[in-house]
Amino acid sequence: MNQNKDRVAPFTPVSHPRFRAVPRRGIGFVCIVVMAMNVGAAPPATPLPAPAVTSPVAAVPAATPASVPDTLQQRLLACTGCHGNEGRAASDGFYPRIAGKPVAYLYNQLLNFREGRRHFQLMSYMLDYQSDDYLREMAQYFSSQHPPYAAPQKFDVSKATLEQGESLVKSGDPAHKIPACSACHGEALAGVNPAIPGLLGLPRDYIIAQLGSWKSGARRAAAPDCMAQIAEHLSEQQVGAIAAWIGSQVADSRARPADHVAKPMPARCGSMPSADVAH
Ligand code: HEC
Ligand code: HEC
Repeated sequence: MNQNKDRVAPFTPVSHPRFRAVPRRGIGFVCIVVMAMNVGAAPPATPLPAPAVTSPVAAVPAATPASVPDTLQQRLLACTGCHGNEGRAASDGFYPRIAGKPVAYLYNQLLNFREGRRHFQLMSYMLDYQSDDYLREMAQYFSSQHPPYAAPQKFDVSKATLEQGESLVKSGDPAHKIPACSACHGEALAGVNPAIPGLLGLPRDYIIAQLGSWKSGARRAAAPDCMAQIAEHLSEQQVGAIAAWIGSQVADSRARPADHVAKPMPARCGSMPSADVAH
C-alpha cells in the first residue's frame, strides 16, 4: 500500500488508531446524519436516493420533518457530530476544525470530497447528492464560526526539531525548492481569503496525513496543485518537524484570514487563481 519513496505513510483513516471512534457510530449513524441533513435542505442537484423506505432508521421520529426545527444549524448537526460544535474540532486531533476557515477553501474541499479528489468515505457519502448551492451554504456557515481552539497537544520532540520546523514554515528551504509556508498561508499563518487555509490550530497528525496524501496523490486540489509540488520536495523528516512545530503552537480564535497575500506568491495555485505570483 505504501509505495511512497519518501516513506511518509499516507494517512488512511482505517490505519489510524483514532479511527476507532468512527465505526462505533457505524453506518446507522451516517444514515441518520444524512437524513437529518436533508430535512428541509435546499433542492439537491440530483434526486436523493430513497433511504426512508428501506432504512432501519426510517421510523426514528427525529427524522420526520414535523418534529425537527428546520434551521441550517439543526441540519449541520450531521457534521458537528464529527467536527465538534460549530466545527471547532474535537480534542483527539483526528477530525479537522472547519470553523473560521476561508469560505472558498471550505467550499473547494466539499467539492473535492464529493468529486473524489479527497477521500473519507463516511463524509463523501453525505455529500454525494448535495447541490453546489447547499455546499456553499454549509461552507459559509462554518466559515463564519469562531469558537475557541483546544489547547495544543504536547509532544516529546527536541528543541532542535521544533526550531527546524519553525524555520521551514517561516523561511522555507530554497536549496530544496521549498518556499516558506507563510508566503502563502499568511505571515500570521491564519490563512488568506478566499481559498488558503490557516495552518495554526491544525493537529500534528492531521498535517502529516495531509502532506502524505498530497505526496501519494490521494489528495488533490485544482491544477496547478501547488501543495502537491511542495509536498513532493519535503522529506519525511521535514514533514515531521513542520507538523510538530505547527501542532505545538497556540492558535487564537480572534485571528482572521488576511485579505491578500503580502507579496506575490512563490508559485501558482489553481485554487487561488486571482492571486499575484512571483516570476
Ligand atoms: C464521520 C465523521 C465525519 C462527518 C459526519 C463529517 N466529516 Fe468532514 N471530515 C471528516 C474527516 C475525518 C476529515 C478529514 C479527512 C482527511 O483526512 O482528509 C474531514 C474533512 C472535512 C473538511 C476539510 C477540512 C480541511 O481543513 O481541509 C471539510 C470542509 C468538512 N470535513 C466538512 C464537513 C461537513 C460540512 C460535514 C457535514 C455535511 C462533514 N464534514 C461531516 C469527518 C467527518
Ligand atoms: C504557493 C502557495 C503555498 C505555499 C508556499 C504553501 N501552501 Fe499550503 N496550501 C496552499 C493552498 C492554495 C492550499 C489549499 C489547497 C486546497 O484547496 O486543497 C494549501 C493547503 C495546505 C494544507 C491543508 C490544510 C487543511 O486544513 O487541510 C496544509 C496542511 C498546508 N497547505 C501546508 C503547507 C506547508 C507545511 C507549507 C510550507 C512547507 C505550505 N503549505 C506552503 C498554498 C500554499
